[in-house]
Amino acid sequence: MRIIFTFYLEKNQVYIVVQKNNKNGDLNMCGIVGYIGFEDVKEIILSGLEKLEYRGYDSAGIAILNNNEVYVCKEKGRIAKLRERIDGNISGTVGIGHTRWATHGVPNKINSHPHQSSSKRFTLVHNGIIENEDELREKYLNDVNFTSDTDTEVIVQLIEKFVEKGESVELAIRHTMSELEGSYALAILDKEDMDTLYAAKNKTPLLAGRGEGFNMIGSDAMAMISLTNSLYEIEDKEMLKITRNNIEIYTIYGNKVSREPYKAEIDASDIEKGTYPHYMMKEIEEQPFVIRRIMSQYSDENGNIHMEPEIIDSIRACDKLYIIACGTSYHAGLIGKQFFEKISGKPTEVVIASEFIYNMPLLTEKPLFMFISQSGETADCRAVLVKVKEMGFKTLTMTNTKGSTLAREADNALLLYAGPEIAVASTKAYTAQIAVLAILAAFVENKININVFQELSKIAYTMETLCDDKDNYKKLAEKYINNSHCFYIGRCMDYYVCLEAALKLKEISYIHTEGFAAGELKHGPIALIEEKTPVIAVITQENINLNTRSNIKEVKARGASILVISMRKLSQETDEIVIDDINELLAPLAAIIPGQYLAYYAALKKGCDIDKPRNLAKSVTVE
Ligand code: AGP
Repeated sequence: MRIIFTFYLEKNQVYIVVQKNNKNGDLNMCGIVGYIGFEDVKEIILSGLEKLEYRGYDSAGIAILNNNEVYVCKEKGRIAKLRERIDGNISGTVGIGHTRWATHGVPNKINSHPHQSSSKRFTLVHNGIIENEDELREKYLNDVNFTSDTDTEVIVQLIEKFVEKGESVELAIRHTMSELEGSYALAILDKEDMDTLYAAKNKTPLLAGRGEGFNMIGSDAMAMISLTNSLYEIEDKEMLKITRNNIEIYTIYGNKVSREPYKAEIDASDIEKGTYPHYMMKEIEEQPFVIRRIMSQYSDENGNIHMEPEIIDSIRACDKLYIIACGTSYHAGLIGKQFFEKISGKPTEVVIASEFIYNMPLLTEKPLFMFISQSGETADCRAVLVKVKEMGFKTLTMTNTKGSTLAREADNALLLYAGPEIAVASTKAYTAQIAVLAILAAFVENKININVFQELSKIAYTMETLCDDKDNYKKLAEKYINNSHCFYIGRCMDYYVCLEAALKLKEISYIHTEGFAAGELKHGPIALIEEKTPVIAVITQENINLNTRSNIKEVKARGASILVISMRKLSQETDEIVIDDINELLAPLAAIIPGQYLAYYAALKKGCDIDKPRNLAKSVTVE
């Protein structure tokens, strides 16, 4: 166990935050899946895990129950490796699986899931962090020989310990839950019971899926959607007893919960790659369609904007909007600020979630907190949400994931309707966020009389045209982005596009890339420019066209290789990528597309794993 002390000053008081961090077991960003039915479970679990691989891919494991024996196989690395390792002769109709993103501690085989109790009666997979594992080891498990350093093993040993003391399995699981401090989604097998799969949840996502003659659990709907779209939300501190025909939900106190399933609105084909070589390419090309879907979702029968009145009222009533987000969503938030201030005249501040929590800006009297999060699970955002709710402030989440933690815990939620985004690098969720922000801002108050739907329709068409030009981006990426560094430069709205385009390039190609405000170059970054340094300039704003053009000249004079992405009316003959004229405020929606493709092709050329870049995961559920 590592103890982290954080000191901070607030209202003239020094606060000390003590965080316990587990050595090897803090696996909060993992995926779990479980199945009980009549089909052979091996392929079901493996393909469920493949759908969850975006959550982490440091190691993977599976456990299958057969003839009161448990077969366990785990491997460091990808699920494809696990597939190769699994004994082809193993079969069974009950199983669980796990895919891991390691935060601390080596992603080795010993620490991989599933973990088993000493007698091997119980086998368990876990997504989460148990904070009091040391106390539990000392209190109950002194005589146990642990085979791993993980907090997860404490859970499975504890269940066995309570069963040995005479508790029923259900009671032992609930008893264990009551002892655990921290977060968990658990799937548990008992080799003495071939007809039951157990599960439990606290502060970590878990859903149950109801099928005909089978039932499932999974970290998200995608793990189950090819078999069932009838899903149950599971609340914190609930335990599930799942048989082939029944899903029983219990509170931690053993009271049965009655809950109706909901229908997940995901088409199984949404989560397939189809003929695309990578999800990222598929998701880039879905963007025009997503923009059109957003318009139809947020319009009434007369084609006017329609959004939840409570949401609109809460924005109108606040004296300042605070947008809280991370990564790509933060970049969308920066553009959102421009919409709220320029279209609706609403003062807006955008703060990186992980910064806000320790460095809170001075708040106004009546703030509204808007969380932008594709996954709706980002821990940094959740920490802010919890904090501002405690302070009594109103909250709103904009997310792509219905029923996600941030969607459930905020006062209101707005959906992005981008469809599942599988590639770790966010593309269509980013443009969906910008489109929804624009519609929202215009509905709150439209001081500049922008016809957002009309502009978005034009942009959807422009996006299609840009996607048609991908062979050009491939050539340009191969020609220009062949260096260990790359810079994007732009001003105003273009600067925000540069930040996002730079993030795309660095996260999937591992080429060091930064987005700079073009006017800032001469204040330092220009020192980095040398012969053939690629500099990509974005110019879609008339008022700064000439300024950015002179910044281009400055870097060109110092040897940079220049690539210009410009809007047609501002373009010059030598510009490599030209975007049809569209509304300047909404131009980031189109201007980002070449940047997404350039990142894609640069990564492709380097042979990188485009959909699953190293060290990253799709849902970042650790702070
Ligand atoms: C995007 O390409 C990144 N992988 C990442 O920055 C992401 O946007 C960030 O982690 C926030 O995620 P969220 O939108 O799910 O909260």
